[in-house]
Amino acid sequence: MKKIKVRTSTSYDIYIERGLTKNCGDIIANIVKTRKIAVISDNIVDKLYYDTIETSLQKNGFTVSKFVFPAGEASKSIETLNQIYTFLCENNITRSDCIIALGGGVVGDITGFAAATFLRGIDYIQIPTTLLAQIDSSVGGKTAIDLPCGKNLVGAFKQPKCVICDSNVLSTLSDEIMSDGMAEAIKYGMIRDAELFELIASHKLENVNEIIDDIVYKSISIKRDVVENDEFDTGERMILNFGHTIGHAIESYYNYQTYTHGSAVAIGMCMITEKGCEKNVLDKLINCVNAYNLPHYCNAPISELLKLCANDKKRESNYINYILCKKIGQASIHKVCITEFEKFILN
Ligand SMILES: NC(=O)c1ccc[n+]([C@@H]2O[C@H](COP(=O)([O-])OP(=O)(O)OC[C@H]3O[C@@H](n4cnc5c(N)ncnc54)[C@H](O)[C@@H]3O)[C@@H](O)[C@H]2O)c1
Ligand SMILES: [Zn+2]
Repeated sequence: MKKIKVRTSTSYDIYIERGLTKNCGDIIANIVKTRKIAVISDNIVDKLYYDTIETSLQKNGFTVSKFVFPAGEASKSIETLNQIYTFLCENNITRSDCIIALGGGVVGDITGFAAATFLRGIDYIQIPTTLLAQIDSSVGGKTAIDLPCGKNLVGAFKQPKCVICDSNVLSTLSDEIMSDGMAEAIKYGMIRDAELFELIASHKLENVNEIIDDIVYKSISIKRDVVENDEFDTGERMILNFGHTIGHAIESYYNYQTYTHGSAVAIGMCMITEKGCEKNVLDKLINCVNAYNLPHYCNAPISELLKLCANDKKRESNYINYILCKKIGQASIHKVCITEFEKFILN
């Protein structure tokens, strides 16, 4: 079993091994004192993996209850959060008990936020089941729910007690959801690790399973390094936003219907690279995203995307931060005023 230690305000380990969900109870029993656990999941993941988790927890003496909500981003809402709080109350979950997030980023984000706020904070554990959740959302302690006026607008930093990553569970993901996660893996290669990029670029969606363990381990290590240096996202962590400034604008322009997050980020990475980097870097990036069925351009008018970039609710006053990878594996942060960003993009 591989173990990655994350040294943030509270430190924790990420355990990585194929088939690990079957033994999750053994790991968790060594980490928490309580023997009472509440599992939060969505209806798809619940059917696929809950029984395995429950069996392993019960074998280790845990009493387990579960709350399941409908899969999808629409559930990352204040209404679902309220239902989770009610469920935790009804099951007498106390501050010394523990919650498990079993699922993709939606389950992880809302469960993490419930754990950060219920009784002013209780322990939680992540068992991420999408590629995106394993290499991105379960690492770093950002938790959130969406509001009707925007995504991830209410949240907290809350580090889990541990993360349990089993790449076997990725075998049930659809191609589209796998591609979505691959966009983030390509991002890690671009910003920090030319070797990882080459490994990914020398494969494609159809045979990525051969290298998925390496991708998961290397991607998590990169995210760990970045969040350890900047847990609360005031500096270096911004490099994780490579492709996201424009990517978020693309998702929003199409009302979150046409492009998945990963597709929008793939386009965003290609657009920013086209403006600020040499053609050979752009060509390699385009070939790579295409190998994972991800798009490299879209028809949204640039002027509209720029308006959406300028309206981003999490932007810092009049400034925009964008990330460039002039060389594969090396990222730089550029803080410019909006008008300068517009000039750069329209050039
Ligand atoms: N906290 C962070 O740092 C962070 C970072 C990136 C993204 N996010 C958030 O993550 C969310 C997206 O996460 P996601 O892409 O995992 O989406 P998701 O959680 O909606 O999962 C996608 C779909 O895959 C299904 N699924 C999950 N695991 C499965 C499996 N093993 N087999 C078959 N189906 C499975 C889910 O039921 C769902 O239908 C967004 O809300 C985003 O804001 C958070
Ligand atoms: Zn992303």
